[in-house]
Parts: sequence; structure tokens; C-alpha cells
Amino acid sequence: MGIPGYVVSVAADGAQTFRVSAEAYDGHVGRYGQELARELIGVAGVINGMAVLDVGCGTGLLTAELADIVGVTGRVAAIDPSAPFAQACHARVPTADVREGRAESLPFNDGVFDAALAQLVVNFMTEPAAGVREMRRVTRKGGVVASAVWDYAGEMTLLRAFWDAAIALDPAATAADEGRVMRYCDPDSLAELWRAAGLTDVTVHELRPSAHYDSVDALWRPFTQGVAPSGAYTAALPADAQAALRDEYLRRLGHPTGSFTLTARAWAVRGSS
Ligand SMILES: C[S@@+](CC[C@H](N)C(=O)[O-])C[C@H]1O[C@@H](n2cnc3c(N)ncnc32)[C@H](O)[C@@H]1O
Repeated sequence: MGIPGYVVSVAADGAQTFRVSAEAYDGHVGRYGQELARELIGVAGVINGMAVLDVGCGTGLLTAELADIVGVTGRVAAIDPSAPFAQACHARVPTADVREGRAESLPFNDGVFDAALAQLVVNFMTEPAAGVREMRRVTRKGGVVASAVWDYAGEMTLLRAFWDAAIALDPAATAADEGRVMRYCDPDSLAELWRAAGLTDVTVHELRPSAHYDSVDALWRPFTQGVAPSGAYTAALPADAQAALRDEYLRRLGHPTGSFTLTARAWAVRGSS
């Protein structure tokens, strides 16, 4: 059965599909957030005592890991345009200075951070070049600006299998496939974005986080709650089309039963301010 073309525009407003509950996000892509954050922090070289900024902090998965690393002698600030996410981040990390706002106009003075990080955010910025330039501006000379993005077109299993299933049922879903829509999901485009912002000593690293699921329901439910572009696509479908998509998705994942793990790949970039 074909699915009519319920295609959403992810570029229209990068924060739009993240105005959902923190629980829904944490059960979806957020499941990978802690492992991904630890790997990104390693790439960025964040250590105890640093002043750090988490741009597009979401529900605070990276913020919490940053707070652990920098400790009481360090300082953590975080910012996100989604009000429910900024509130969730504040609740998760009460010691952090959490603000509501966008990467493209950061409410911080020049050079006040040792490092500025953005986990899974640059593709959702309205103006990524301006957002990365702002991250550089607020980072001291010699400090680090770093980011991670999913390998949407390749080995981010959760989302790759989802879009492949959606396109198999509805070719029009190609227009929403994050592997095609996202501008920065490979090492070259990411490195170029960093260099164009004036960052130096730019390097790209492969990250391999994974996520554990207790059941296929735990995997599927967040899609139906409208989280992220994949959820927005799913939630817009009528019930029968959602059921067909679920079946095709689980078939492509090999019909997991009981508890299971999905692996993912992300690319991390770092550069010196
Ligand atoms: C995939 S989520 C990542 C959240 C969090 N960093 C994490 O790793 O769980 C993308 C986040 O980018 C935020 N966002 C969208 N547009 C943004 C912008 N222009 N500036 C900063 N953050 C933005 C969204 O609100 C959302 O929280």
C-alpha cells in the first residue's frame, strides 16, 4: 500500500520538531545522547575547570556530561530555542546557566568560553555558517569549537532504516530523507563549514554511539509522538499508513524481539578559535 506524500520541511524551522516533551526526545534520538556526548567531549578535549558552552542543548544530555567533567571549578552555559527543552535542561543540570535562544545570535561576550560544543545541531540551525561563527566569537583565542552530526546517509541505523522504509512505501518521502536534506552529514562538508568560519587546525573524527531498547514499542513510540523530522513525518500519517510504515521499518531492522541494541555513526569536527 502506498503512503500519500506527507512530507515535512525540516529546513523551515529547525526548532519546530523539537517543541515536544523532553521524555519523547529522550526516548528517541536522545537515547544515544549520553554516549555521543562522552565521545564528543573526548574529541573536544574538555577537562576539569573549563568554561564551556552547549549550543542547541536540547534536554541537556551533553550539558550534564559537560558539568560532570568541568566540575565545581568550571562553568557550564547552555542555550536552545525550544522552551520545553531549555526547561528540561535546567531541571537536569540546575548548576548550568541555561538560556532560551539561537546559535546565530549568542547572548554572550567575546571569548568567554574555553570551548563551545554543539551536539546534533548544525543541521537544524537556520544559518549554520552564522551559528558556527558565533560559537567561534564566544570562544577564547586558542579554545575549541566542536560539533557532532549523524551519518544520516550511512550508518545511523535508527534513522537510515526509517527513511529507507518510508521511501519504499512512499517515494515522495525522499524529499524529507535526512540523508539527503541535511547539508552537513559527511566529513568534508563539516570540515568546510568549520574552516569557512575561520577555525584552524580542523580535524574530523568518527564516533560510534549505540542505544539499548527494551522492546520494539520503546523504539517505535517516539516516532508517533512527532519527535524530530522522522517523528514529524510519522505523526502526520493516518493510522493505517503508520502501521504499514512500522511493519516495513521493523522488517528492515530484522524483526527485533525482546531487548536489543542499535548502533550508530556520527562525525565529530573540532577546530581552534
Ligand atoms: C537533535 S536535537 C539535539 C539536542 C541535544 N544537543 C542533544 O544532543 O540531545 C537538535 C536541537 O537543536 C535545537 N536548535 C534548532 N535550531 C537551533 C538554532 N538555530 N540554534 C540553536 N539550537 C537550535 C533544537 O531545538 C534541538 O534541541
